[in-house]
Order: sequence, then structure tokens, then C-alpha cells
Amino acid sequence: MLRLIGRHGPLLVAAMLLPAAAASGKHSRAGRTDGLEATGHWSHRKVGSAETPPMGWNSWNAFGTAITEAKVIGSAEVIRASGLAEAGYRSINLDDGWWLKRRASDGRMQVRTNLFPSAAVGGREGTSLRPFTDRLHAMGLRAGIYTDIGRNACSQAWSSDNPNLPEGTVAEREVGLYGHAEPDLALYFRDWNFDYLKVDACGIAHYAATRPQVTQGRFRALAPLVVDADANRSDIPAVRALYAQVRDALRRLRPANDFVLSLCNWGSANVRAWGKDFGTIWRTSNDIDPTWGRMLHNFDSVATRELYAGPGHWNDPDMLEVGNGTFDAAHPVEAQAHMSLWAIAAAPLVIGTDLTRADPRTIATLGNREVIAVDQDSAGNQGVIAYTDDEREIVVKSLAGHGAKAVVLLNRTAEPTDIMLTAAHLKFAGDRPTVLRDLWAHADIGDLGGQRSFRLAPHQALMLLARGTPERGSGLYLSEMPGRINVAVDGITALEPDPLIHRMVDPYHPGTTWTGNRPAYAGWGGPRADATPYGQDLRVAGVAYRSGLGVLANSRLEARVERGFRRFSARVGLDDSTRGTRAAVRFELYGDGRRLALSPPMRFNQPAAELTAEIAGVRVLELVVRQLGPANGNVVASWAEARVD
Ligand code: GLA
Repeated sequence: MLRLIGRHGPLLVAAMLLPAAAASGKHSRAGRTDGLEATGHWSHRKVGSAETPPMGWNSWNAFGTAITEAKVIGSAEVIRASGLAEAGYRSINLDDGWWLKRRASDGRMQVRTNLFPSAAVGGREGTSLRPFTDRLHAMGLRAGIYTDIGRNACSQAWSSDNPNLPEGTVAEREVGLYGHAEPDLALYFRDWNFDYLKVDACGIAHYAATRPQVTQGRFRALAPLVVDADANRSDIPAVRALYAQVRDALRRLRPANDFVLSLCNWGSANVRAWGKDFGTIWRTSNDIDPTWGRMLHNFDSVATRELYAGPGHWNDPDMLEVGNGTFDAAHPVEAQAHMSLWAIAAAPLVIGTDLTRADPRTIATLGNREVIAVDQDSAGNQGVIAYTDDEREIVVKSLAGHGAKAVVLLNRTAEPTDIMLTAAHLKFAGDRPTVLRDLWAHADIGDLGGQRSFRLAPHQALMLLARGTPERGSGLYLSEMPGRINVAVDGITALEPDPLIHRMVDPYHPGTTWTGNRPAYAGWGGPRADATPYGQDLRVAGVAYRSGLGVLANSRLEARVERGFRRFSARVGLDDSTRGTRAAVRFELYGDGRRLALSPPMRFNQPAAELTAEIAGVRVLELVVRQLGPANGNVVASWAEARVD
């Protein structure tokens, strides 16, 4: 398990920070590496295969390291018998606790056979999880396994009396991938035939030379590459290089790309910006637990990252707690809210409860096909925040069918509240019908009538399907297609923690006698749909815009527009909320590498300029904002009302 080291941090390595995306950039004529030149293509390459968010079950939230084959198979059998497999939950994933040791003679990983009896195959192999994966595959399911990117695991970092910790010498207890990536991954994917890999990061975070388990000689020191609460003191290039090794090995082992790679470094080291290029899914925050506050924390860690997810790559707010604690069968309102938020966020749906003991109401919540359909919608758009305050939230997810949207109305508080949903939130024409369906009540609830007020119980999330007439007719705002946008260069030059999300309370050190759990997840300043990178409304020279993309200067976004649109248009300008008021910016639009439009230099408080281009036949648009001259702070630019028709 992960524990925050907070400010009692270990000795630290120096950071070599590059702007998140600049590492892949090209050299400009001026010789700088800025990555702003149009490339003419969609540069994101999928890692593994998950056209829609992965779904399955994982042992950790249910059992911790008290994991046994019988327990895992027990939940797998319920998944099959209850219809959850048919509903999409197919990957059965082992978490921490399955391993016994790395065999001294040849480094081959050995399985704890008192927990996994079918692994006792004997002979040259000693132990093997192949019988286990064969059994899951024969059940029509997929199989997932867990490891760590360092030498040692999270369980080893945080407990010493656990009977299921790896055994033997220091070397035999080095069960992580560090120095063993190629043979371990070949074992897991070729010999054992796993399909899904979760790679934790305690091994590169919690084994500093000063840690007691290291000074006591139980583990080898590894200078931390990840400093949990401090992206600047994390060695980001080194972390990326280690995960790239895993990604590339899996691509070689599975040339058909039939795998899922789940990165688990808890939102640290700016992974929220680069995870999309290294894993199929990547954790955006610390560990969830079955409490209301922690669930919201994890949701908040993905809620503003809508432009980073899309078909094949998904923000991961961690596994579900439906069935546990605050989300058990006695708390259907909270359980439904949790499911609703994960579905609207296009999050992986990985069950984390002991299904053999699950109440039928828990199975029904997890198995709600209409809610799952929203999560699994083929357009792959993450929901975009349409309204937010400190108590209420409206999140809208554009679905594949034109004029179809899912919307979650959330009451974060312990008091009842009212939420007014308007056609404008949905970007639908208010004078045309908008038909609503309640996905938890499984009931059509009539017309929106332009706007409609809903009373929400404490902690309630209302999840609706809305069918209406888009404001744009057959066109789309770019902020309605976040799944088809790739952040190629984010324009961030200095890493900043996202101030909207405090670091979660450390359950092991919950006291308040220190300076507090300050925000810690880097990524602040990344581009946003219908908001500025710093979470403000889009506004240029006093005019507010409800739709658009907010970016920092020196950014480049790619947008897939294969669907046969004819025209791009936007109102572009320096955003009123810019920190840098003194520099000008220039907006550049490219279609398949060809420049289609260029704005004049745009200055602070200058009214937005109309930028239009014919785009018939274009496959990839590139939206570049270039800063002209030095500024007195980061420059915020708005592609207001950016749309394709
Ligand atoms: C970390 C991860 C969890 C789980 C535990 C296992 O805390 O974030 O999801 O895998 O390790 O020890």
C-alpha cells in the first residue's frame, strides 16, 4: 500500500525537467525545441488496446495482500454468473501479494503456492500462474497481474509483519521489474499468458537510503525517482524511461497490441501530462478508499483532464469502491454517485469488492447497463465540466450519436440542494425538445423545456441521458469532442500543482500538527475544454464564451476531424485571465500539415478575432498558439467557440 512520505522525504535526486510534451518536439528554425511546428499527423500512438475504458475486477480494494486463488476465482465466478461479465467486466486482475520470491538460481519469479495451489507445477519451472490464467481464459475472462517498476513493492515498503510478503534473501525479495523487465514481462505475457499489467511505483519512491527498512538491511536502497508530493524533485525523464521500457517490451511480446498497461504512480511526477504516451491508463491521484471525501478527491483528479483521454488512453481515478464502506448496499445513493462519476469521466471500471459476499443491490449498481453504456460509449469523450461550485457540479459527456449526451448532476454536500440544468449546459438548442431519461430509475422523465430544476438528496448524483438538437446543428464545438483531441505540446514551462485538489489525508498519518496536505498533483495549466488552463471562464476583452478551448501560449493541439466537416471557425484572443498581459500571441491553424489560417498578433484586451478556414477533406487539424516576445507571466489564450461544421 502507498503511504505518503510527505515532507519527511528521503534524499533526493536532481530533477531534469522538460516541459511535458517538449521531449518529443522537433527543432524549430531558431534551433529551439518547441514542438510547435505542424506535423501533419495525429502523433498519439496507443499503448495496448482499450478502445473503451478497461473493465474488470481487482483484488486490492477487496482483500489487500490477503489474496488467494479461491477468493479471486470466487469473484470471477460471480462475475460470470451474475451477468457482470456480459456487461463488460472481463479482466480479473491480481494485485499485490501473489509472489513468493525471485528464484536465486535464474531470477525466475515464483508464486506463493499456499495461496495459489494451481501454481505448484514443479519441475524446471517450479511454479507457474499458467493454470490460473488458463482457467480464467476458459471462463471467457481475461487475466491481469501486478508488479512494480522498482526493485520492491508497495506492500514491502509499508509493512513488515504481513505473512504474504515476498520471502528469502534481499535479492530473492526483489520482485519488481527493475533490472528484470525483459524476463519478467516475457514470463507474465508469453509463458503465463496474462493480458493486463498494473505497474506500481513504490520501488522508485519509498526505498531511499534513509528509510528504516533500508538502514536495517532488509532492502537495497534506490535513490527515489518519484517524490510523491513534489514533481520538481522527481526525476521525470528517468521515470518515463522506465515505463517506456515496459511499454516497448509489451509491444514486442504482443505485436497485436492485445494488452492493457496500467501505470500506477498515483498522479506523481507529472504523469497526468505524459501518461497517455506510456500507458493505456494512468493513475491521476493517490489511492481511493471507501469514503465519500476520498472518492470525490479521486474524481476531482481526473475531472479537469478531459483533453488527455480518448479512445485507447484513459485517465484513471483508481478502482471502484462500490460495495465497500460508504458505497456498500446500505448506501445506494453514494454507490450510484460513485458509479455515475466514473462513467461520466470515461474512467476504467474495475470492481474492488468481494463479489462472493456482495449484496444483490451492489451487483445491480455495478451492472447498470445504461450507466455502463455511457462509460463505454464509442466516441471516447470524457465528460466536460459545464458548471461547478463548491457544492454542485454538472458534467456533460458527448456520446457517439449526434445529439446524444450524458449528464451527471452532483450534490457533493450532506444537505439537499437544487440544480438547474439548462439547454446551454448541454449545448443544445433551448427552443427545441430535449428528451431526458434517468439512468438510475430506468425511466424517461420528459422534456427539459429549455431548463429544468432538480432537487438532489445529500450525496446524490442524478445521471441522465439527454437527446436534443445541438446548438451547432450538424457541426460540433471542439470542446464536445475531447476524445478526438491530442495535447501535443501543453505550453507549460514550470510545473505547478493543481490548486483545485488538496493531497488526500494520509490514513496512516492523519494528524494536523504539520503544515497540511497541500495540493501536489502537477498538470495545472494544461489545456481545457470550456475553461481556461487555470480554471476560469473563457473571456476575451470582456466577452465571455461558454464553448472553446483554453490553452497556454506555445501550445499545439491536434484534432481529428475525419468525419467530413467543411469549415473550422473560432474567435481567438488573449484571455482576460492571462497572467502575462504584455506579450502578444499568434493563432495558427493547420490542416494535414498545411497552414490554413493565421491570426494577427493578438494583445491583451483586444477583442477576439474571427479565424476561419475551409477544411473539407482534412483529417487532422493542428491548433498552434505562439507567443510573440517576452511576457510578465504565463500567457493564456482562448480558442473561443472553436468549432467544425
Ligand atoms: C499502491 C497502489 C494500490 C495497490 C497497492 C498494493 O498503493 O496504488 O492500488 O496496488 O499499492 O500494495
